[in-house]
Amino acid sequence: MSKEFDVVVIGGGPGGYVAAIRASQLGFNTACIDATSDKDGKASLGGTCLNVGCIPSKALLQSSENYFNAAHHFGDHGISTGTLKMDVAKMLARKQDIITKNTGGIAYLFKKNKVTSFHGVGAFKAKAGDAYVLEAKLADGTVEEITAKHVIIATGSSVRQLPGVAIDNQLVLDNEGALAIPAVPKRLGVIGAGVIGLEMGSVWKRLGSEVTVLEAMPTFLGAADEQVAREAKKFLTKETGLVINTGVKIGEIKAGKKDVTVNWTDVAGAAQVSVFDKLVVAIGRVPNTSGLNADAVGLKLTERGQIDVNDDCQSNLPNVWAIGDVVRGPMLAHKASDEGVAVAERIAGQHPHIDFNNIPWVIYTSPEIAWVGQTEEQLKAAGVEYKKGQFLFSANGRALALGEGKGFVKMLADKTTDRILGVHIVGPFASELIAEAVVAMEFNASSEDIARIVHAHPSLSEALHEAALACDKRGLHS
Ligand code: FAD
Ligand code: NAI
Repeated sequence: MSKEFDVVVIGGGPGGYVAAIRASQLGFNTACIDATSDKDGKASLGGTCLNVGCIPSKALLQSSENYFNAAHHFGDHGISTGTLKMDVAKMLARKQDIITKNTGGIAYLFKKNKVTSFHGVGAFKAKAGDAYVLEAKLADGTVEEITAKHVIIATGSSVRQLPGVAIDNQLVLDNEGALAIPAVPKRLGVIGAGVIGLEMGSVWKRLGSEVTVLEAMPTFLGAADEQVAREAKKFLTKETGLVINTGVKIGEIKAGKKDVTVNWTDVAGAAQVSVFDKLVVAIGRVPNTSGLNADAVGLKLTERGQIDVNDDCQSNLPNVWAIGDVVRGPMLAHKASDEGVAVAERIAGQHPHIDFNNIPWVIYTSPEIAWVGQTEEQLKAAGVEYKKGQFLFSANGRALALGEGKGFVKMLADKTTDRILGVHIVGPFASELIAEAVVAMEFNASSEDIARIVHAHPSLSEALHEAALACDKRGLHS
C-alpha cells in the first residue's frame, strides 16, 4: 500500500532537511527520503554538509589551526609548550563527535516538526493524476511506495572525477577521504586550487605535510576579487606554506601500492613528475541525478546534468521542485537552505524572494576570505563607476591583540549613489564580518550608512567601519 504525503523531499542535506522542516511548519504532511548512512549503516541526516563537507572540514580546520598556532605563534605570547604532539586519531574522533551531534540534531528536529523520515534511495516511479508515485529502496532492504502531491528534489552533488584515475579513498581521495586521513601524510598532492583544495590543503599542511596544489587555471581563485586573491595567495604560500602551481596540465596519474605518481606540465610547458603519499582530487562537483529515474516522469535536466529549474526552483513538471547543489547557482549550504525555505513557502502559496546577487562566499583558510556582491573586475567590465574604501587589519587594535593583523577589508560603492556594491575581506573572522555587509547590501545601504553606525571598540568590525569611511576619503585610522 502506498503511503501518501503532501510534500516529499528527496535528499536530507541543508537544502532538503530545511525544506522538509519548513513544509511541515506550514501544515503539510511531509516526508524526507535520504540515502546517507553512518559507519554503522544507520541514517545520518544532513547530507554532504554535515557528514563530509562544511562541518567536518571546519572541525579539522580548527584542530589544525590550534596545532599550527601552538607550534608557531604561542611563543609570541610567552607560552612555551615543549615538544608538540599531534594525535590524529583523537582529532578525527572529535570531528566525528561533532558530526554525530549535528546529524542527531536533524533527526531530533524531524521528530519535533513531525517530518516522516525514510532512510534509503528515492526515485520516481510514475505520475498518478496530479500526484507522483515514488519508490524508496530502504537501507533495511525493503521497498516503500510513496505518493506525493509535491516533490522537492535536493539530492546534492558528488566529486567530479578526474578521467583516468579512480578515487579509492585510500591513496586517491575525494572530500570524504581528505577528511579522514588516518596519519599526517608526508607528501600530499591536491588537484584543484578551489575551495576544497585550499581548505583541505591547509589542514594537512598545518599538521606537517608538504602540500603541492596543482591548478589548471592560470589565475588563482578566479571567482574572488583580484586584489583579495593576490593577498590570499601570498599568505597561503608564505605563511601556511602551500606550494601552489597554477596553469598546469595534469597528465597520467599512476596509483602504486603506497604512493601516487602524477605527471603534469607546468605553466611554462615543462614536464614535471610528482610523487605523493596521498592525492586529493577537488576539481569541482557534479549534480546527483542518476538515481532519480527522471525519465519515468519526463523530468528535464540541463546540458550540465543539473535539474532544469527557473528562478523559483520549479522544474518542467508541475509540483516538482529542485534546490541546492543539484540545480544552477553556487554550491553552498546556505544557498541550498534558503531555496528549501522558499520552495516550501511557494507550495503554501506565499511569495518569498531570494536575492541571488547577495549570497556571501567564505573560504575558511588562514586568514579567512569572504566576499559578497561585485568585484572590482566585474564593476569595471560592466562600466559601473565606483569608489573604493579599504582598511588594513594591521591598523586594527583587536586584530593585533589576536595576533591576526594581516589582510584588509575593501568596500566598493557606487560613485554617484554611494550604494554598496561589494565587500571583500581577507583577514581574521572574515566569515563573521561579512554578515554586516550582507545585511547592509540587502537593505540597499550606502557606505555612509555604515560610516555613521557606531561599531564597538576594540573589534574587528571597526575595519568594516573604517573601509566605509574611506569610501569618502575620511578614514580616521588610515
Ligand atoms: P547535499 O548536502 O549534498 O545533500 C544531498 C543528500 O541527498 C545526501 O544526503 C545524499 O545522500 C542524498 N541523496 C542523493 N540522491 C538521493 C536519492 N536518490 N534518494 C535519497 N537520497 C539521496 N558549503 C558552505 O556553504 N560552506 C562550507 O563551509 C562548505 N564546506 C564544504 C566542504 C566540503 C569538503 C564540501 C564537499 C562541500 C562544502 N560545502 C560548503 C558545500 C555544501 O556541502 C553543499 O553546497 C551543500 O551540502 C548542498 O546541500 P544540498 O542539500 O543541495 O545537498
Ligand atoms: P571549485 O570549483 O571550488 O574548485 C575546483 C578547482 O579545480 C578550480 O579552481 C578548477 O579550475 C580546478 N580544476 C578543474 N579541473 C582541473 C583539472 N583537470 N586539473 C587541475 N585543476 C582543475 O570546486 P571544489 O574545490 O571541488 O569544491 C566544490 C564546491 O564545494 C565549491 O565550488 C563550493 O561551492 C563548495 N565548497 C564550499 C566551501 C565553502 O563555502 N567554504 C568549502 C568547500 C567546498
